[in-house]
Amino acid sequence: MPRRLLVTSALPYANGSIHFGHLVEYIQTDIWVRFQKMQGHEVHYVCADDTHGTAIMLRAEAEGITPQQLIARVGAEHKRDFDGFLVGFDHYGSTDDAATRAIAYDIYGKLRDHAKLVTTRNVEQFYDPVKSLFLPDRFIKGECPNCHAKDQYGDSCEVCGSTYAPTDLINPYSTVSGAAPIRKTSEHYFFALSDPRCRAFLEDWTQSGDRLQPEARNKIREWFDHGLHDWDISRDAPYFGFEIPDAPGKYFYVWLDAPIGYLGSFRNLCDGKGIDFAAFTDAARAGAEGTEMVHFIGKDILYFHALFWPAMLQFSGYRPPTHVFAHGFLTVNGEKMSKSRGTFITAQSYLDLGLNPEWLRYYYAAKLGNGLDDIDLNLEDFTARVNSDLVGKYVNIASRCAGFIAKRFDGKLTTPVFGEPIETQFGHAAREVADHYAAREYAKALRKVMALADIANQYVDANKPWELAKAADREAELHTVCSTALALFRDLTLYLKPVLPRLAAHVEQLLNIEPLRWSDAWKHLPAGHTIRPYEHLMTRVDPKQIAALVDANRESLKPAVEAPKTTEKKTVTETAATATTAVAPIEPTITIDDFMKIDLRVARVANAEQVEGAEKLVRLTLDLGGEQRQVFAGIKAHYEPAQLQGRLVVMVANLAPRKMRFGESQGMILAASGDGTGVFLLDADSGAQPGMRVK
Ligand code: 2FM
Ligand code: ZN
Repeated sequence: MPRRLLVTSALPYANGSIHFGHLVEYIQTDIWVRFQKMQGHEVHYVCADDTHGTAIMLRAEAEGITPQQLIARVGAEHKRDFDGFLVGFDHYGSTDDAATRAIAYDIYGKLRDHAKLVTTRNVEQFYDPVKSLFLPDRFIKGECPNCHAKDQYGDSCEVCGSTYAPTDLINPYSTVSGAAPIRKTSEHYFFALSDPRCRAFLEDWTQSGDRLQPEARNKIREWFDHGLHDWDISRDAPYFGFEIPDAPGKYFYVWLDAPIGYLGSFRNLCDGKGIDFAAFTDAARAGAEGTEMVHFIGKDILYFHALFWPAMLQFSGYRPPTHVFAHGFLTVNGEKMSKSRGTFITAQSYLDLGLNPEWLRYYYAAKLGNGLDDIDLNLEDFTARVNSDLVGKYVNIASRCAGFIAKRFDGKLTTPVFGEPIETQFGHAAREVADHYAAREYAKALRKVMALADIANQYVDANKPWELAKAADREAELHTVCSTALALFRDLTLYLKPVLPRLAAHVEQLLNIEPLRWSDAWKHLPAGHTIRPYEHLMTRVDPKQIAALVDANRESLKPAVEAPKTTEKKTVTETAATATTAVAPIEPTITIDDFMKIDLRVARVANAEQVEGAEKLVRLTLDLGGEQRQVFAGIKAHYEPAQLQGRLVVMVANLAPRKMRFGESQGMILAASGDGTGVFLLDADSGAQPGMRVK
């Protein structure tokens, strides 16, 4: 039975670049979609830019353009990056569009009027009196209530790591205008997730069947234990988004219309192609038609996709998802991606340097299973793996055999002759590889394919076509060996095609065949079939290219245009773009005597090291001339310890020592920071000596 699938990947925010972390998901989804299409199923793969919210509004303002101009520009960049990595959406849209708006209004109207699941109540929030704007947490900074570090975000302190509410900050200020925020109350709209009907539906929906992965089900049970709370779905003007019908000045919170963007994008695809939208989206129709809706997401947005979204759909007459498949995060070289280390790698930088997108597709696939585990991109392993598997094993088969067919046999194949273990191994592979792909167990699928490639190479090694070619009387044998090897190569290509679509297309060209489908497995080209002359299929990864990639992504080399990942992910911990570089207000005047109380000294970094278990800290041993001090500095994200060794810094030498979880901090080093992610240590000109006073 052909399946009928609507498949989505999470919508990327329209104010940041696509990076390697994003690509895990798009590549994972794209492989699944291509595999399903090769099976002959009906698959519609849609996505869109997630365009609404305060962060995008402010970023546009900071750039002096309209939000519409911003999202048009970023949308085009995203499409370029997805094309570059061969992510084959059937439609890529934007949430700021008529179809998404219409469906949002429809769903909201049904939730409010029929299901009676929309309520209102007053909410007190920080408000910027200068900008006349309610402030998401991440747009508020102030002094940490715990360690008193200045300029900490409204949700957590980068220096001591404590988390708190923005209202706990000492001397809070708005990062938008610099003004002290005031508290202000306004009416908000809520989706009543706490309603017993939602709970009953979600307990069944999340815990029965195979809609979710077992790890996700467990996580959700914990959420049930903490109780389901109503969800704040409105924001006050000014806001970039859809105004709520009959509620002037109130807008849908970006996360309300983001998943609706899946349906909006699909609606546009349907209108263009004559696909029956309701067959996939209407609860009654979808059941009868046996259509499926499958979402691929990161594990950080499970709450939205496994609780809010299915409940919204269920109670507005739409079909809830058939599956929500979550994946883990990406680490690079075993650590969180880092701009200072150059491992926060953008899609564009990779493509601009001319690296092959299929290398990355292959590497990710070789690492991906169907669970929520994080995957690691080890850059050395990347080079080794791609070179050995793709070039050394797979391409090697064709490069050793195809040339002879062209040169010696006028491009014509003869009947292959297999024998064991080829017959058994290749003859029965199609089902096994398919099952792995279908279950999103790509690592297992590729292990199987590489085991087959090993068998094919053993066959070539054993039959040595290069020697047969030298013997005058062994033409027929040469013809059979090369034709057999190419038959195996064709099957390997078929199995790799979901991962390597471009390479597969080249091979289809070379072999002069129609696009490979799964049903073509272990069916052989007839004797006399003519192939085209062999052209090189894939180059090796040069470690120098990887070094250049890391260099290109090192923060210090790039102009500071990139905002950090902007998220309106959680109502509690909203993070924000910091494209607005408001200067913090100047502190009240002090006297020279006040200033002289601070004993600032030049110090040399005698030693710098990571602190086991600390997310943000580096342990410094500072040489003050006569004495040494241990200081913990919250600069891990910005400096490599090795870079610091030996350099001069400026320290507050008479700051009261502070006990920290990792030991005593005996002073503080000075660094400049603004609204962006950068932290810049203060230096002393050469000639300065450790211990010298700074005044
Ligand atoms: O987390 C994010 O990047 C969101 N922009 C994902 C939205 S997915 C969907 F709900 F639209
Ligand atoms: Zn702190």
